[in-house]
Amino acid sequence: MSSTTLIFYVNGKKITENEPDPEMTLLSVIFSVLLHGLAVTTGEGIGSTRDRLHPVQERIAKAHGSQCGFCTPGMVMSMYALLRNTSKPSMKELEIAMQGNLCRCTGYRPIIEGYRTFTKEFGNEAVCGMVNLCLIIHSQEPIFPPELKLN
Ligand code: FES
Repeated sequence: MSSTTLIFYVNGKKITENEPDPEMTLLSVIFSVLLHGLAVTTGEGIGSTRDRLHPVQERIAKAHGSQCGFCTPGMVMSMYALLRNTSKPSMKELEIAMQGNLCRCTGYRPIIEGYRTFTKEFGNEAVCGMVNLCLIIHSQEPIFPPELKLN
């Protein structure tokens, strides 16, 4: 592997680019980014209608939080990132996590209502009965590539 080889992972799949164009962005591979030695996880990487939806995808759908769908990947991945960092977030943390995502269709209420079910304020009566266990059982997210782990 030369120093001009770019290696990264998209949803657990290794991508190797030899002598990449320095102006190339991940847009040419997925939708946007320029990186090396990192793992990228997209909405498709955590679940899909083809296999099984991740709970963050399922709850935005069940709450009718997606209309045109333009904002949905950002909303889903913001919620996913929040839950990866805080298994039981507060409503305040949820609102902060959603900042930066603009939705022109829903008025945000159904999105927040769907994701409220993950918060402390909602309590332990999660939609599937056990929020954290539900996330573990339903999660199809790829493991972090061992090649990229720091010792
Ligand atoms: Fe259309 Fe959010 S569902 S922008």
